[in-house]
Amino acid sequence: MDKINVALDGPAGAGKSTVARMVAHKLGYIYVDTGAMYRAVTWKALQSGLDITDESSVRDCVERMHLVLHPGETGQQVIVDGENITTFIRSSEVNQAVSQISQIPSVRQRLVQMQKQMAANKGVVMDGRDIGTSVLPDAEVKVFLTANPRVRAERRYAELEQPEMTLEELEEEIKRRDDIDRNREVSPLREAEDAYHLDSSEMSLQEVVDAVLELCMDRVGGGAE
Ligand code: DC
Repeated sequence: MDKINVALDGPAGAGKSTVARMVAHKLGYIYVDTGAMYRAVTWKALQSGLDITDESSVRDCVERMHLVLHPGETGQQVIVDGENITTFIRSSEVNQAVSQISQIPSVRQRLVQMQKQMAANKGVVMDGRDIGTSVLPDAEVKVFLTANPRVRAERRYAELEQPEMTLEELEEEIKRRDDIDRNREVSPLREAEDAYHLDSSEMSLQEVVDAVLELCMDRVGGGAE
């Protein structure tokens, strides 16, 4: 059975990563969380003490750093310059700075190039903001997954082991990031015209996964088991 690529876009906390991971697992595909790549660059820039508004030093940083993603049963592992930073990229420092870093054109260029390479042989479920519109415009299945900001904040909150902020603060941060992601000049968060719009506010995780799998089955002729 021919493999396809699946693009899953949407705002922060819509459940993209969990859905993408479960769909990839079911199809035996590779799951790529592109948000983790922007987070990895952000972590590296902060760790190196860079001024994150200084584009040229961030560009040098992204060009020098060695970023590897390992698919794993418990989720994607992120390795930078030999160090596993999977847990560090979810810190509130990284949360605060990642939108700024992901606006830098040279950062996007480098990461999008890597993302295209990862999907070149098909069989990839990739989640992000610009996958259906600019990374994989030819993806066979495109889904735009959303949910209202409160529901998204509640889901993110439940995932945090040691919440460093209140639910209300998290909701505000999500709205702030939505705003930056939607309004930035380079690859803003935008729904592809041919994407399937899925509002998960009132859906269970399994219902969302089943809906995405059904779209995939339609494209591969029901043989992706
Ligand atoms: O999905 P996430 O919250 O882990 O993403 C972190 C940030 O990275 C988010 O603020 C937007 C940015 N991002 C992006 O600009 N393009 C992508 N393809 C994925 C994430």
